[in-house]
Amino acid sequence: MADKKARLTVDGLDEAIELPVYSGTEGPDVIDVRPLTGKGLFTYDPGFVSTAACESKITYIDGDLGILLHGGYPIEQLADKSDYLEVCYLLLNGELPTEAQKKEFIHIIKNHTMVHEQMSHFFNGFRRDAHPMAIMVACVGALSAFYHDSLDINDAHHREVCAFRLIAKMPTLAAMSYKYSIGQPFMYPRNDLGYAENFLHMMFGTPCEEYKPNPVLAKAMDRIFVLHADHEQNASTSTVRLAGSSGANPFACISSGIAALWGPAHGGANEAVLTMLEEIGDEAMIPEFVARAKDPEDPFRLMGFGHRVYRNFDPRAKVMKATCDQVLKELGVENEPLLKIAKRLEQIALEDPYFVERKLYPNVDFYSGIILKAIGIPTSMFTVIFALSRTIGWISHWSEFHSSPNRIGRPRQLYTGPKKRNYPLL
Ligand code: CMC
Repeated sequence: MADKKARLTVDGLDEAIELPVYSGTEGPDVIDVRPLTGKGLFTYDPGFVSTAACESKITYIDGDLGILLHGGYPIEQLADKSDYLEVCYLLLNGELPTEAQKKEFIHIIKNHTMVHEQMSHFFNGFRRDAHPMAIMVACVGALSAFYHDSLDINDAHHREVCAFRLIAKMPTLAAMSYKYSIGQPFMYPRNDLGYAENFLHMMFGTPCEEYKPNPVLAKAMDRIFVLHADHEQNASTSTVRLAGSSGANPFACISSGIAALWGPAHGGANEAVLTMLEEIGDEAMIPEFVARAKDPEDPFRLMGFGHRVYRNFDPRAKVMKATCDQVLKELGVENEPLLKIAKRLEQIALEDPYFVERKLYPNVDFYSGIILKAIGIPTSMFTVIFALSRTIGWISHWSEFHSSPNRIGRPRQLYTGPKKRNYPLL
């Protein structure tokens, strides 16, 4: 039901076009432009800067105020009081679990952590120096070849089982992609450990000796998972929804999300931050890189700064910064040269008028890369960890899409190519 109406007058049309306007529970009103097609018009919005592509109840962002809510709960409170599996439950179900529901959910996830043994043979097809994101795109898509028992996208129970499998198996596959790259044996998951602890065990454990995850690092890892869990209709989530709209199976859709996340403007930024810090190499070089970032003729950008939606401090970055300080202290590496460059760069960018005027604050990826490096995670795994964390967001949006009447996504275009013409006569 439209709360308000908008009227659009177009040169050449006799009457104004009346468009319904809807109000959500938070955020700007949206104008329903669907009646325009009947009048021979489309809207034009490259980059989807002002287009609401769907209705959703999962996550809300106010970019001007720097607010991020999951199911209405502020991200700062979730990061402080909750944990990743509880946030997964919240994103999937819209409510926090009771104690009994949480226990049951954890039990279910833990019972899906292993991947089919045949999966391990897939890895042998990759070069040892393959980027782990390339392996993830392939292996997550390949899961659809193993779980035929849950691929009916119109069955709510099947959708739920797929979500459980993805949440449970992503850390296993992610760790396998790392172990393969360093030539160590894959570590089976340990279901007596917490979600983040188990991931650290599969990453850093070996069959030769027992691995005891450091609780401070496991907590930081869990927080990284929480802070990346969902971010409403970003590029990868929109990709998953669009792929899902064709009826494709969930594993294929999540694989498309991983591919979209890989780019440096999106999830690939955490890896790009570290590469950039290494390239800067010395505090004395910072002004040169800052000057390049400000030069409109130079495509170089300061990685880990700016955000399409946040024109204020990214609320995730604030929590990440605090966690970063804790981790660096725990590991006693506060004075590591790369981290000193990062801190100096952050200070300069927060004071430089170019960044201040454009509201280019450090984003979540600026600090997550620093924490991951300190924990000992190799740079090429950073975006994989983002993908692992974001899987719950992707699958929650995919499930939401399929839980109500829907249509295939089909954007239109402003065509500026040649007009109709005839093939030349010889
Ligand atoms: N360094 C230097 N200048 C920048 C940067 C940057 N990192 N980001 C934006 N700008 C400038 C840009 O050149 C433009 O200047 P002008 O108005 O003079 O032409 C202005 O700021 C607005 O930029 P935009 O390209 O319109 O912004 P956008 O909303 O299209 O892009 C972004 C957002 C995140 C892709 C961009 O800020 C960027 O490339 N940042 C670096 C990559 C990065 O850290 N990405 C991670 C995002 S957070 C994780 C996630 O959610 O995926």
